[in-house]
Amino acid sequence: MDIKKAIKEMTLEEKASLCSGRDFWHTKAVKSRKIPEFEVSDGPHGLRRQTLKEDHTGSSESIKAVCFPAACATASSFDRNLLNKLGKALGIQCQSEGVGTILGPAVNIKRSPLCGRNFEYFSEDPLVASELSSALIKGVQSKNVGTSIKHFLANNQETRRLTMDEIIDERALREIYLASFEGAVKNAKPWTVMCSYNKVNGVHMSENRRFLTGVLRDEWGFDGVVISDWGAVNDRVAGLIAGLDLEMPGSYGINDREIVAAVRDGRISEAVLNRTVERILKLIDRFESHRSKQTKWDKDADHELAGKIEEESAVLLKNDGILPLDKNDAIAVIGKYAKTPRFQGGGSSHINSSRVTSFWDAAKGKGHEFYFAPGFDDKKDEIDRILITKAVSAAKKSDVALIFAGLPDSYESEGYDRSHMRLPECQNVLIEEVLKIQPNVVVVLTNGAPVEMPWKEDVRGIFEMYLGGQNVGSAEYNLLFGKVNPCGKLAETFPLKMEDNPSFLNFPGANDSVHYKEGIFVGYRYYDKKKMEVNFPFGHGLSYTTYKYSNLKVSKRKLKAGESLEVSVDVSNIGRMAGKEIVELYVAPRSSTVSRPVRELKGFEKVNLRAGETKTVSFVLDKRSFAWYDPSLKDWYVEPGDYDIEAAASSRDIRLTKKINIDAPKVFRKRFDENSTFSDFMGDERLEALIKPVFDSYRHVNDKTVTERSEAISQEMVDATFGPTPLRAVLGFGDGTIDHEKLKEITDKANELFGYSSAVCPNTEQ
Ligand code: BGC
Repeated sequence: MDIKKAIKEMTLEEKASLCSGRDFWHTKAVKSRKIPEFEVSDGPHGLRRQTLKEDHTGSSESIKAVCFPAACATASSFDRNLLNKLGKALGIQCQSEGVGTILGPAVNIKRSPLCGRNFEYFSEDPLVASELSSALIKGVQSKNVGTSIKHFLANNQETRRLTMDEIIDERALREIYLASFEGAVKNAKPWTVMCSYNKVNGVHMSENRRFLTGVLRDEWGFDGVVISDWGAVNDRVAGLIAGLDLEMPGSYGINDREIVAAVRDGRISEAVLNRTVERILKLIDRFESHRSKQTKWDKDADHELAGKIEEESAVLLKNDGILPLDKNDAIAVIGKYAKTPRFQGGGSSHINSSRVTSFWDAAKGKGHEFYFAPGFDDKKDEIDRILITKAVSAAKKSDVALIFAGLPDSYESEGYDRSHMRLPECQNVLIEEVLKIQPNVVVVLTNGAPVEMPWKEDVRGIFEMYLGGQNVGSAEYNLLFGKVNPCGKLAETFPLKMEDNPSFLNFPGANDSVHYKEGIFVGYRYYDKKKMEVNFPFGHGLSYTTYKYSNLKVSKRKLKAGESLEVSVDVSNIGRMAGKEIVELYVAPRSSTVSRPVRELKGFEKVNLRAGETKTVSFVLDKRSFAWYDPSLKDWYVEPGDYDIEAAASSRDIRLTKKINIDAPKVFRKRFDENSTFSDFMGDERLEALIKPVFDSYRHVNDKTVTERSEAISQEMVDATFGPTPLRAVLGFGDGTIDHEKLKEITDKANELFGYSSAVCPNTEQ
């Protein structure tokens, strides 16, 4: 397509018409210029392609497709290759259906376990979210199909998501909420970004120039199309100026006419419209020029792949040795989810599954002695004594009770948040009743986000399957009977109770605004800082084998701020079963001038080990691995000092530690003046020389104080009060030799040497 020519030839109306959808899933064709329509489809863990033009609610059926495990599950795989494979499968499905862009992945941070859409999101940690979504994006786009990373920015709750103002401080934005998008946008270059419904710090994201253009395009180099979330447009003209390209689903031409009027009356220049049209045409061209209409989609192969992905994602939370199960045991299979599993969440990601394999289906014909009892009805949370009695009697005649529990459909969906973190009471009562007569209880959970577990100490095993896709049953069977070794780890913390969560006092907000008062202390960053007990920590996951960590090495013990550090560690499988270990690498600053998390995840690798095998796992830590975002510098800042490099099996299972030291130049955050303190001048020889006269004038008096009252006041005490004292204090407390003029002379010279702008430089490169 000759895009420049097309733009030149199109009428104003034609150009404006390209900026919004014809219906829910297509842009408008411009027949006179041979510009075809372009189709998008949900996403993110399967294809929800709807052939009816209007449906958005899930009320009319989408085509039959394969429902893969949701992001809550795949995040726990910590496996980039696996996510890439999933992406490729989605890309092939899109090609064969003529879908130009799949609406996902969704990388919002799990601020609260209650967010109704957490099942679609990856993690409470931005590195996990951005790394895994990058792998997925690369997989999809390798098939010449676009992705739409969403929901930019801070759609971390569903309550009043269209009108909520998310009030977030700059450090939290940079270190947590933007960071989950940043890595993926920079590394994987998604074709499109979907802006969220909500406001951030007072401005609707659909017209938020600071983020849509300033951060996304100018800072991160994004060159694709920004699409509105469905119905997120507030002011179309402001949106266009801010960098929002495509309005979805469209507004029956109303906003297209607004754009035309705005160009005509000079509110926007035609160049702004042309810029957007060019981006949209490039997107269409990207897909059309690599369209492979012959692509075949093998639903059965993808069904198998869905099962494999779930096997690599499920997390064995607890095992006192009861697992894997013995094939010869009589087993009470309790819970309706054993036969009719819950494997996906509600809302726009809901897939019309091609087929479903339950645990029961997977176990069929394999010669087990099973006694089934549904145990509860998940349509309502009512304790059904008859169902419980039947479950108890099944448990009584068995060696083991396997209870398939989880959150019902109505608990987790797009559009609303959960009101508490508990399982339905009828399921908790069922588990307690079975425990009364059967000590060998294993709970298998299907849910998209953490739940409280009042029975945790009493059961012998817990598997977290998350929402495991349409072939969850095969994975459950293979994992429970040890045909496959569990290897997932939690990408989020399971707190003991909801009240422990850092967002608890400020979720979901009131009066259409919510303050993220916990700042950067999200998930483990908070629980670790507060030394709180949790149910299961971030990064936790068990295996049927045992891994030993040894030989942690760093490429240097001393480095300069901005330099990279190579780290390696040996991991051995010292058990009897092959398995995969996720090695986590944390950076823990020993001190800081600001409040920082105890440790933060800065690398992870999944490594496949035969029994008895050892492999070396390597990482590179770059400048960002050590930095915090300093709003006064408007930049990432690496502070001098000691840092621990930790190789870990979970955030609370640190296996090996090496201390390194970083040397960094002193950074000046503001210009020097009479209110600069003595400590602002310390640490650099030239500055210390400059204030020597002030120091002398002041010290003269203070030395006397120390000598005269040596018992009561130590030199350390004087230094501690002296350091934060502004220079101007010398006028009154010095010996009278320093006046305003002298102070100005000194601070002018200091500014010449180290003025704010020049001092920032060492920390500006990324
Ligand atoms: C959701 C998006 C989804 C879109 C299209 C919106 O309500 O927030 O995630 O992609 O609808 O279905």
